[in-house]
Amino acid sequence: MRTRSTIYNCNVIELAKIHNRAGNITVVEENINLPFPIKRIYYLYDVPGGGERGGHAHKGLQQLLIAAGGSFDVVLDDGINKKVVGLNRPYFGLLIVPGIWRELINFSSGAICLVLASAKYDKSDYLRDYDEFRNYKIKN
Ligand code: TYD
Repeated sequence: MRTRSTIYNCNVIELAKIHNRAGNITVVEENINLPFPIKRIYYLYDVPGGGERGGHAHKGLQQLLIAAGGSFDVVLDDGINKKVVGLNRPYFGLLIVPGIWRELINFSSGAICLVLASAKYDKSDYLRDYDEFRNYKIKN
């Protein structure tokens, strides 16, 4: 999956919702509805309304992004094609495979972006320059 990945490898997964009148629960479990082991969890919050994050790709990291609260859009780019995925429900997760440039835009006020990641933080896994990313995609 590391090489020649495309935006079409990035899918929205519908997560099970356990519903009752006191509220809902959504569960993510590796090997059940997540195709990678969870090594790290982080979340983006206090992003100003209309704000943007991202603007990078990963060489090896797999991630599941969930709008745990509010909404935002994810722009996915594989160097050739682009698509925009809107996330606005806590029971949908966007799977992002390695080698995809992403930007998170249009954050609603108070939105929370929960990220389940396949590896610990590794600065060297990032591609932060778009031209470098394009070259990487040509070679890999
Ligand atoms: P970054 O992944 O660039 O966030 P975004 O693309 O959403 O702006 O991370 C922002 C900063 O936080 C960067 O200096 C690295 C640091 N960081 C960690 O130290 N550990 C982590 O697990 C993450 C995700 C980021």
